[in-house]
Amino acid sequence: MAKTIAIGCDHAGYIYKDKLCDYLKAKGFNVLNMGTDSAQSVDYPLYAKKVCNCIKEKQADFGILICGTGVGMSIAANKHKGIRAALCTDLVMAEFTRRHNDSNVLCMGARIIAYEMAEMIAEKFLNTEFEGGRHQRRIDMLEN
Ligand code: RB5
Repeated sequence: MAKTIAIGCDHAGYIYKDKLCDYLKAKGFNVLNMGTDSAQSVDYPLYAKKVCNCIKEKQADFGILICGTGVGMSIAANKHKGIRAALCTDLVMAEFTRRHNDSNVLCMGARIIAYEMAEMIAEKFLNTEFEGGRHQRRIDMLEN
């Protein structure tokens, strides 16, 4: 079954977010666009919350959050229980945060990485499985 991805951003990330929505749909993912949808200044914690709620309510399998650096979104998302958000700037981080951290939210910075890299990172993140085993024990420690 196709995975569902909730995607959100602030004003610094909305161009990457719109392009990623189209890219992910073309790759066969279901996409929930949680906004924002323009360059008008907004507050990133609100959009992080919308995306995290989709995951907590099981409407989405994964989230993607984009702001200027990706830092604000990752800080905001990791405040939400059950969310393991990872700020990724390359493919190794995207692969290993799925394999070892079972991350469920990918954060990226539109002012940090090229759009083409954002596509590659998103695809690597979404197509990499969690390894379980000793890594599950460590995740349990985070949650408890
Ligand atoms: C907005 O200017 C910027 O602060 C925001 O996109 C993000 O980079 C925060 O971490």
